[in-house]
Amino acid sequence: MSLVGLRKAFGATPAVDDLTLHVPRGSFTTLLGPSGCGKTTALRLVGGFLEPDAGRVLIGGVDQVGRPPNLRGVGMVFQDYALFPHLSVRANLEYGLRMQRVERALRAERVARAVALLGLAGLEGRYPHELSGGQQQRVALGRVLVLEPEVLLMDEPFSSLDAQLRLRLRAELKALQRELGVTTIYVTHDQEEALSLSDQVVVMDRGRVQQVDSPEGVYLRPANRFVAEFVGQANLLPVQVTATGSAAPAGGLTLTALGRPLSARLPDERRPEPGARGLAMVRPEHVVLLTDDVPPPAGGWRAAATVRARSFHGGFERYWVELPGVTEPWLVDVPLGPSLGGTTPASGRPAPGASVSIALPAFAASWLW
Ligand SMILES: Nc1ncnc2c1ncn2[C@@H]1O[C@H](COP(=O)(O)OP(=O)(O)O)[C@@H](O)[C@H]1O
Ligand SMILES: [Mg+2]
Repeated sequence: MSLVGLRKAFGATPAVDDLTLHVPRGSFTTLLGPSGCGKTTALRLVGGFLEPDAGRVLIGGVDQVGRPPNLRGVGMVFQDYALFPHLSVRANLEYGLRMQRVERALRAERVARAVALLGLAGLEGRYPHELSGGQQQRVALGRVLVLEPEVLLMDEPFSSLDAQLRLRLRAELKALQRELGVTTIYVTHDQEEALSLSDQVVVMDRGRVQQVDSPEGVYLRPANRFVAEFVGQANLLPVQVTATGSAAPAGGLTLTALGRPLSARLPDERRPEPGARGLAMVRPEHVVLLTDDVPPPAGGWRAAATVRARSFHGGFERYWVELPGVTEPWLVDVPLGPSLGGTTPASGRPAPGASVSIALPAFAASWLW
C-alpha cells in the first residue's frame, strides 16, 4: 500500500505534512517519532478514522479516502485496547464478524483460530476486567485479526504494559506477523521497539518524514541530526570539508590518524563543497576506549580524552569522556564480557578524572551535512 502527499492540519499547524510512503506488502513498517509528531494522526488517516485535507491512501492501488474504516480492509489496534467491557472474550473476538454478517460456522472457525494463535484458550468466557493487561492486548489484537485485514494498524499497543511483558509480546507479535504475512503499520515513540520489530522504519518529526530506511539504515546512516539523535545515542564532531575534499575536525580537536584519512568514509555522492561544515556522527559502542588490554583498531583515528563519569549498565559500561575542543561529552560504551564483568573489580578500568585515549575505527563515522 502507499500514502501519497497526505496532509492533515488541526488549526494552523499541520499534524501530518506531505506524507508519502510505500509500505511493501507483508512488511512490518513502523512510524517512529517523539510524542506529538503526528504518528497517531497518520494512522487514523490510513484507517479512515480521519479524513485528510489532501493526499491519497492507496490500498491495492485504489484510493481509500472517503471510504469508511470498515470498507478499507484495515484493522486498527488502539493504544487503550478499546475492548467492550460488558462482552466476554469470545464475544469481543466475534463482534466485528457479526457486524460483517459473517455466518455462524465461519465465525466460530475464525475465533477458534485467533484463540489458538494468541494463546487465549481457556479465557473465552472471561470478561475484560478479569484479564491481565497482556491478555487484554492479545484480545484487542485477536479482534482485529479475525477480520483478516489487508493492513494491520497498531498504535503503541504495548505502551501501558510493564517492560518484561512488553518484550515478550513484542517477540510474539513479530512471530505472528511473519506467520500471517499481514502488512503492518506500527506506531511507537520507542526507538528500540522500532529497531527490533521493523523491516522499514519511518522517522517523523513535527509532522514530516525525516527518513525511511531499514533499522540498520536509520541507526548507522541517519539522514540528519534529528534522526541521529532520536534513534540512538549520537556522538557528534563538527567537521569541515578541506580543499582536497577531506573532512577535517572543525573544532580544536586533534585526531591522530591510525591508518586512513578522515575523508575515507566520505561517500562521493554526498560529498559537499570544500569549506562546507557538517557533523561526523559516531555511536557510543563504536568508540574504542584504549587500555592496556585493548589495542587500537587497524584503521581510524585516535584522540586524547578525559573521563568525566562512568556508569554500570549490566552488559556494558558507559563512559562520559571530554574531548578537547568538543563541547558535548562523548559517550563510550564498553562491553562487559567475561573478562571484564563478573568478579573482576572495576578498579582496573579508568575512573573519573583519568586521562585516556579513544579510537574511532574508520568504518564508524557517518556524515551529516
Ligand atoms: N483531534 C485533534 N484536534 C486538535 N489537535 C490535534 C488532534 N489530534 C492531534 N492533534 C495535534 O496534532 C499533533 C500530532 O498529534 P498525534 O498525531 O496524536 O501525535 P503522536 O501520535 O505522534 O503523539 C499534536 O500537536 C496534537 O496536539
Ligand atoms: Mg499517538
